[in-house]
Amino acid sequence: MATHSSKIRKAVIPAAGLGTRFLPATKAVPKEMIPIVDVPMIQHIVEEAVRAGIEDVILITARHKEAIENHFDYNYELEDTLDKKHKQELADVSRAIGKMCNLISIRQKNPMGLGHAVLCAEPVVGNEPFAVLLGDDLIDSRVPCTRQLVEIYEREHASVVGVMEVPKDEVSKYGIVGGKMLDPRTMHVDRLVEKPAPKDAPSRFAIPGRYVLSPAIFQCLKETRPGKGGEIQLTDGLQLLAEREKLLAYQFEGTRYDTGDRLGFIDATLAFALRRPELAEGVRQIMTKHLSGK
Ligand code: UTP
Repeated sequence: MATHSSKIRKAVIPAAGLGTRFLPATKAVPKEMIPIVDVPMIQHIVEEAVRAGIEDVILITARHKEAIENHFDYNYELEDTLDKKHKQELADVSRAIGKMCNLISIRQKNPMGLGHAVLCAEPVVGNEPFAVLLGDDLIDSRVPCTRQLVEIYEREHASVVGVMEVPKDEVSKYGIVGGKMLDPRTMHVDRLVEKPAPKDAPSRFAIPGRYVLSPAIFQCLKETRPGKGGEIQLTDGLQLLAEREKLLAYQFEGTRYDTGDRLGFIDATLAFALRRPELAEGVRQIMTKHLSGK
């Protein structure tokens, strides 16, 4: 067991990918800035991290992604104009985003994979455990998913990946864990396989994109050779971690939306819109109109 503190204060959000599944929208706009209703996806993710007690958000970014940094900064011109027009509520909304967290950005100069993106955070994370949240996965839950994992890390002093059960014919879309069940929701992981064929999958527990990891993952990633697609896979680094330290998988409570996929994005948009009192009735009427074909 490493001798680092077990308080989780930092989160890494890898956002350096090209977002090819969402072209042409992502040609000039970072995928992370595409909104679910009127809130950019990345803001939902940062809010989850902050609600889990995270103070420092380390954004792994790339060229042409400055809009993300601007979003979490103040916009004096906008806020001042809103003040003068007595639109206080909107000015406050804008300022609150600027105050949300300490945002530290690091450039991943070449898209060498998710594992490589996480490794880019090492100089800022140092010898502390940290959370990783992927921007493509929106998890709607009473207790934020990252909070659920942080509680396990702080109790068990072990790295933990969030998992969800998927149908057998969908295992080839995810990293899948295998190991021994400790209770109905928790597994001691000894194997991880990236996008296995259904017959090779060690379980139906898939990793959608939430982790709390010990800093030992950095050394594991340094020793990880490029895998599928010439990229350094986080799953391969986690396999090495599981061989060196205790690694748990926890079936989190909550609904997950794959917002990196077109249908998942529409699903999330409708679900979030229907929850907004000022929009719900209008959205219902629009849906009824389209479904009745009028
Ligand atoms: P994806 O594999 O979903 O890639 O990365 P992507 O580029 O975002 O999207 P598509 O598949 O081309 O549409 C999973 C996560 O890892 C980050 C991405 O930004 C995303 O949050 N990532 C991936 C990096 O930060 N760097 C990389 O080199 C690769």
